[in-house]
Amino acid sequence: MTQIYNFSAGPAVLPKPVLARAQAEMLNWHDSGMSVMEMSHRGKAFLSILEKTESDFRTLLNVPSDYKVLFLQGGAIAENAAIPLNLLDGKSADYAVTGGWSKRSVEDARAYGTINIATNTEGEGFTHVPDFANWKLNQDAAYLHICTNETLQGVEFDGLPNAHGVPIVADMSSHILSRPVDVRQFGVIYAGAQKNIGPAGLCIVVVREDLLGKASPLTPAVLNWKVQAENQSMINTPPTYSIYIAGLVFEWLLAQGGVEAIEKVNIAKAKLLYDAIDSSDFYVNKVAVKNRSRMNIPFFLKDESLNEAFLKGAEAQGLLQLKGHRSVGGMRASIYNAMPIEGVQALVTYMKQFENHH
Ligand SMILES: Cc1ncc(COP(=O)(O)O)c(C=O)c1O
Repeated sequence: MTQIYNFSAGPAVLPKPVLARAQAEMLNWHDSGMSVMEMSHRGKAFLSILEKTESDFRTLLNVPSDYKVLFLQGGAIAENAAIPLNLLDGKSADYAVTGGWSKRSVEDARAYGTINIATNTEGEGFTHVPDFANWKLNQDAAYLHICTNETLQGVEFDGLPNAHGVPIVADMSSHILSRPVDVRQFGVIYAGAQKNIGPAGLCIVVVREDLLGKASPLTPAVLNWKVQAENQSMINTPPTYSIYIAGLVFEWLLAQGGVEAIEKVNIAKAKLLYDAIDSSDFYVNKVAVKNRSRMNIPFFLKDESLNEAFLKGAEAQGLLQLKGHRSVGGMRASIYNAMPIEGVQALVTYMKQFENHH
């Protein structure tokens, strides 16, 4: 079989050694005589997996001890509802709209209270994060919501606004664990798993303990962070197999040298692709250089009539899932932690070939 490189935005490529290990352990996990999928979530074996997964995640992201780590279901979209339900507490909230996913977060949150828009770049095509000095922030807001990496448009934050003590809630779904973050700068971090963490079906929520206990009485128990924190994320059956794979991904990432080491690789991969785009008159990326995502790199062929031919040729070379999101068009290469640099090299080589041909 030809070497395949999967540039999907999510569900996305996973590290090959992780899949191989899951395969090896599939029928008989650690002499338990059964697959992780078959284990009771309250049994000793699965609890040991959950504890190790949490502990490795805490190590990777350097999570302080006064933050809870929750393993929840419903994806990042469920958290769009959980955030206002858990945090609004009769106040309003500020939202920054810098791409398709933060726009969606606002739409979801409006059902629960007053949402103010701190900044909105939709009119400019979601191509940058505006100067923080120009954001309209309310010092009595319950929280400020941002999406630190917009998966669709490829816009990544290059810093954080000064929220004057208002907790920052960040959707980090598409770049968590790709670079170090100072967790202390956030009240809540959340991320759907199906990019840098593992399979779909799991959403990790990191929440500062003092923010627990403010939930609206209407909050369903599964979305109530305090209830989940008090029950080891097991108010219902957790997504056990997704948690297990996430644990294998965390072990793999630690063996790579952790987030600091993978960041260097991510910088090199992104540079390779952006340099290829910038050095040609054939391809273009429209995002402000300071906000170019290292994980999701959209690009356009200047002659869009060649889009289909580009995708077909790419597929023939094993370069898959390069079509841009339907709301953006063009192409997008998602190059998460598990994408080896060889995959980006193969893409760049193909892009040059295609350009020379046309
Ligand atoms: C930044 C971001 N937020 C939210 C979501 C929605 O996640 P889910 O489909 O897991 O609910 C995605 C999905 O790709 C995303 O990239």
